[in-house]
Amino acid sequence: MQTTITIDSQKAAQFLPQGAVASIKNEVKAAHQALEDGTSPGSDFLGWLHLPASITPEILTDLQGTARQLRESCDVIVVAGIGGSYLGARAVIEALKNQFEELTPRILFAGNNISEDYLAELQEYLSGKRFGIINISKSGTTTETALAFRLLRAQLEKQLGREAARKRIVAITDAVKGAARTTADKEGYKSYVIPDNVGGRFSVLTPVGLLPIACAGMDIEALVKGAQDMETLARTAPYAENPVHQYAAMRNLLYRDGKKIEILANFQPKLHYIAEWWKQLYGESEGKDKLGIFPASVDLTTDLHSMGQWIQDGERSIFETVISVAEPEREVRVPGDEENLDGLNFLAGKRVDEVNKMAELGTQLAHVDGGVPNLRIVLPRLTEYYIGQLLYFFELGCGISGNVLGVNPFNQPGVESYKKNMFALLDKPGYEAESRAIRERLG
Ligand code: PA5
Repeated sequence: MQTTITIDSQKAAQFLPQGAVASIKNEVKAAHQALEDGTSPGSDFLGWLHLPASITPEILTDLQGTARQLRESCDVIVVAGIGGSYLGARAVIEALKNQFEELTPRILFAGNNISEDYLAELQEYLSGKRFGIINISKSGTTTETALAFRLLRAQLEKQLGREAARKRIVAITDAVKGAARTTADKEGYKSYVIPDNVGGRFSVLTPVGLLPIACAGMDIEALVKGAQDMETLARTAPYAENPVHQYAAMRNLLYRDGKKIEILANFQPKLHYIAEWWKQLYGESEGKDKLGIFPASVDLTTDLHSMGQWIQDGERSIFETVISVAEPEREVRVPGDEENLDGLNFLAGKRVDEVNKMAELGTQLAHVDGGVPNLRIVLPRLTEYYIGQLLYFFELGCGISGNVLGVNPFNQPGVESYKKNMFALLDKPGYEAESRAIRERLG
């Protein structure tokens, strides 16, 4: 096994009574064991737990083959999906791609909003281009995704004809249920199955994440290897050296101590979507039964000039988890300047990353002084392998943490409320009673 991501929790533990981290050990270990034994709430949705170890070279070769076909036939690939059906892929692609160059083929995301302008501008952009679609929906009925897919498919069929369009569409959905499956089977699209026992937000290591990531030209073998190694580490490392156990322990201890908000901070703009994926994973898993840490995020140092004041000095209900990347992939040194009008010659010759790291350390110390417990997750580098470790680290951390909290981390009953109202307001067949009730309420 290569080096692994690590967690430094000293600057969080100092806010807790002595012995607190040891005191929760049995709870954390029992929560992990309950996942292994399938005895905790939501045990029908534990397919992600040993998913990395179950990914065979054949599965990866098949995904790489499909990605190759799409890469060869398309200049743009649109990934239609929402929530767990798109955030993982986007997080990995954004973390690994060059921030200023477009990928070839370009990967775009749709089906994650209902903005008419967004869809109109997308249609306009795709007009006349060689594009393909990966339609991702576990239920196969999610409105945002289904609507975008309907528009995109119609456009592709208009541009290419129905027969040729079929070769540029891949469906990733349930094995038998839902409109996306019915359409895929009827049209003969290449398709992949999202296992029944893997919920959307835990599906990044299924074709849901792996196919778009492979289409972006990234190394899914290394990504999966990273996840596999973290799976092994988390199953075997003793509590004190187990980064996943330490994370689950610290966040529950801090929550019990009144820290109701966790801010995931990064010092690399490339990690913005990792935080978006993490927010969905933890927010949807833990925020229920009037419980749960509110997951928030900041991009630093950017947001030190917007949210920094609040974090330093606002209500003391927060703790901060920093994702730190030890070694950048590129090197830039600060040049000297004879005139030194900007006064920056004290930095001349230093790497920009050294400046960033001192900003990171200075921020950590300032926030700790301001009463913000600080956890630090260190990624050796921003590569597929370490991102793979991080994905599984957060997934398992979420499952264990949710069990310690005492909720079912694998359902999301709250998400249905807005859908019910929206369907009633749009007069969807089957929602007549809700429609009458909501109209009475609105007068
Ligand atoms: O984690 C989840 O289950 C959700 O966020 C889903 O991924 C999201 O609602 C999309 O659902 P579907 O894949 O059924 O379209």
